[in-house]
Amino acid sequence: MRKSMVDKHKISQKLLAWYKEDGRELPWRVKGGAHPNPYVILVSEFMLQQTTVKTVIPYFKRFMERFPTIEDLAKASEEEVYAMWQGLGYYTRARSLHTTAKIIVKEYGGNFPKTREDVLKLKGIGSYTVASFLALAYNQPETVIDGNVMRIICRLYHLTEPLDSIKEEIRAKAEALTDINHAADYASAIMDLGAMICTPKNPQCLLCPLKDFCQSKDKKDLEQIPIRTKLSKKEKKGSVYLIQNEQGAYLLRKRTEKGLLSGLYEFPWKDEGIIWDKAEDTQKSVTHVFTHIKLTLEIYKMRSNTPLLPDSFFVSKEELSKYPLSTLMKKVINEA
Ligand code: ADE
Repeated sequence: MRKSMVDKHKISQKLLAWYKEDGRELPWRVKGGAHPNPYVILVSEFMLQQTTVKTVIPYFKRFMERFPTIEDLAKASEEEVYAMWQGLGYYTRARSLHTTAKIIVKEYGGNFPKTREDVLKLKGIGSYTVASFLALAYNQPETVIDGNVMRIICRLYHLTEPLDSIKEEIRAKAEALTDINHAADYASAIMDLGAMICTPKNPQCLLCPLKDFCQSKDKKDLEQIPIRTKLSKKEKKGSVYLIQNEQGAYLLRKRTEKGLLSGLYEFPWKDEGIIWDKAEDTQKSVTHVFTHIKLTLEIYKMRSNTPLLPDSFFVSKEELSKYPLSTLMKKVINEA
């Protein structure tokens, strides 16, 4: 074998040995091969798409208690699924997961598809999730590439070009390193290395199983790698309205517009400017960061005894918690 191939083999061996001993025990994980239940992988990978492991754990446990099988999820109402997702954010994921469950039950009789082509046809599954699902659920020879993996590869090979310009090179190197006979453990191992050792700040190089191979270990620019060109978030300023009737109940509406928050309940709001100029400015505001937007809403108060908008109705303070609200709206309640 050529030296580079020997090194690659050693790297994956070291990584897998480290994972076996020190990798995290997680509620959706088994060590030593594929997970026996693909539904567990499906739910956890959807939740982990844009959310950290720490945040996901309690949501995952509650979700699996409420919907223990793909059939339970498929037959649930949209409201129930949203209620279990409430607070996790990026609610499109909940809707896509629900749709995916219905497809698997209806079109596949509850048996999960196992090919890349079929899995990609489900809802809400892109290049990342198809790879992680097939690797973790079936041990298929797939390479998982997320932010953690890119950071590890860039540091391992001291790649200092801007990340966006070297994605292909990173993919090729990540694929070459993958131990395709242990794809499930390998995927979990490299994610854990990124989360526990090769962290963005203060990486624990002394504890790293790959330290003998890492070309960035003793370099000054280690923490700067990977080089990201800043994506500036667009800032928006809007308004949100706490409208109470004589009984003190609040006006709530169901959001039916397509997009991020569709299906959730909310106080009337607008992402630019104001809706009602007679409302009283509380001088309070909330800020929420979405993928590409930083949104600040000024909180206004108003009185009205009639619902002012389509799909709106009054809800008493005590009943508010029964409606699935977005994190943004929860922030409004907390702030007000
Ligand atoms: N991020 C995405 N999928 C993950 C997993 N299965 N374990 C840990 N972190 C993850």
